[in-house]
Amino acid sequence: SEKPTALIMIFGATGDLAKRKLFPSLYRLYKRGKLSERYAVIGVARRELTNDAFQESVRSSVQDAIKDHDGLDEFISHFYYHSHDVTDSSSYLALKTMANQLDENYHLEGNRIFYLAMAPEFFGTIAEHLKSDGLTDVAGFKRLVIEKPFGRSLASAKVLNDQLRQAFSEDEVYRIDHYLGKEMVQNIEVIRFANAIFEPLWNNRYISNIQVTSSEVLGVEERGRYYEKSGALRDMVQNHMLQMVALLAMEPPIRLNTDEIRAEKVKVFRAMKPLEGDAVKENFVRGQYGRGLVNNEEVKGYREEPMVDAESNTETYVAGKLTIDNFRWAGVPFYIRTGKKMAAKSTKIVIQFKDIPMNLYYQTEKTLNPNLLVIHIQPEEGITLYLNAQKTGEHMDATPVKLNFSNNCIDHMNTPEAYERLLYDCMRGDATNFAHWDEVALSWSFVDKISEIWEGTKADNFPNYEANTMGPKEADELLERDGFFWWPVD
Ligand code: BG6
Repeated sequence: SEKPTALIMIFGATGDLAKRKLFPSLYRLYKRGKLSERYAVIGVARRELTNDAFQESVRSSVQDAIKDHDGLDEFISHFYYHSHDVTDSSSYLALKTMANQLDENYHLEGNRIFYLAMAPEFFGTIAEHLKSDGLTDVAGFKRLVIEKPFGRSLASAKVLNDQLRQAFSEDEVYRIDHYLGKEMVQNIEVIRFANAIFEPLWNNRYISNIQVTSSEVLGVEERGRYYEKSGALRDMVQNHMLQMVALLAMEPPIRLNTDEIRAEKVKVFRAMKPLEGDAVKENFVRGQYGRGLVNNEEVKGYREEPMVDAESNTETYVAGKLTIDNFRWAGVPFYIRTGKKMAAKSTKIVIQFKDIPMNLYYQTEKTLNPNLLVIHIQPEEGITLYLNAQKTGEHMDATPVKLNFSNNCIDHMNTPEAYERLLYDCMRGDATNFAHWDEVALSWSFVDKISEIWEGTKADNFPNYEANTMGPKEADELLERDGFFWWPVD
């Protein structure tokens, strides 16, 4: 396999993401032999640290994440540290000297990845300095990896994008959506486009509705300050949920390459019917968790969490109905829901097929169960197909059966983590599983309409769902009105 060579600079190297995800992912790549000997990492952060101390923090973050860690000494010997002031040119110049030196020592061919894993308010400043202080002046490739949030509205995302584009071209910007790195999210395309039995049915003649759920058990934890300004709509819907919808709804690309796939996804966003005025209320439901019982103990409501306003109007739950106005999907609702402090941690997609034209068989309730295709994204990875088969001994009766494929049984131990894949893709220059600016812009313009209305009107029923439940009753009513219901997530 390809073994890319690069200098990786991680801005925010003392932060949570670097420790929990980036260092362990780099180590896994190293262990799998996907990193050449020619790599070096510079941890960049404000704090004063020696190289040794930094290497020790990398060591402990790998040890915390991974049981078996041989070769760790060699791995961390490629790590260096630079104490940085993001607004000071002299600090960038010192970083450049270090980078050029490592480039030479490790024969990195002038390839550079700048990974911004830190507070978004500095993204623009950093990109500008990287250029003006000459760090992007390289013989090889230069790439910018950037974590969410990418703005908090279309307007602010544009400002940010313009700043980044002063220093990097669109092709050099890798906007992370870690859902696109998940094994089963990537599998959506394979299931659709590599199977003769699904793609011919993948349209409004045979599918009645699609349900995408991403529920979390955790609450807002220590992130109240960020979350109060974000809410579930910006935190989960604008990016992860809409990306999954795009993959489910897109037309088959003419080729499996970055440009073709992204172009098809962009068309889905363009076909998504914008919601305005009353349509927001009719099609979208917001929720906020109140107290609830977990293992018979009362847990806090959102408004009691640290850094959260006691009267907060921020939603911790969103359910919505999306309409995709094109030939394939006209008339098929896409329902999405996501929230914090729900009863299960689960990301799942349910594709519900239409009923057959005439039912010859009966079940006790005198109706047949619809065929369902369920794509399990997490925690389990797999696919379940619900069919009807003869009820043993009663040839006039049908009963549902489940065909189950679980990834865990085959190669779960080897399934790379989302961040591992995305880092590797970036090193190889494959941007397919990163969000293109057009996707980001279109999804913000969809979401902005909803947040404008939600921010302009106080939710008088908050909190409206108890912790450890599946959300407010309005979310059930949203489907009931169309004659559907949320299929249980497990
Ligand atoms: C992040 C959100 O993007 O995704 C978090 O900011 C959320 O609020 C997380 O908890 C969920 O990711 P996952 O991979 O656990 O489903």
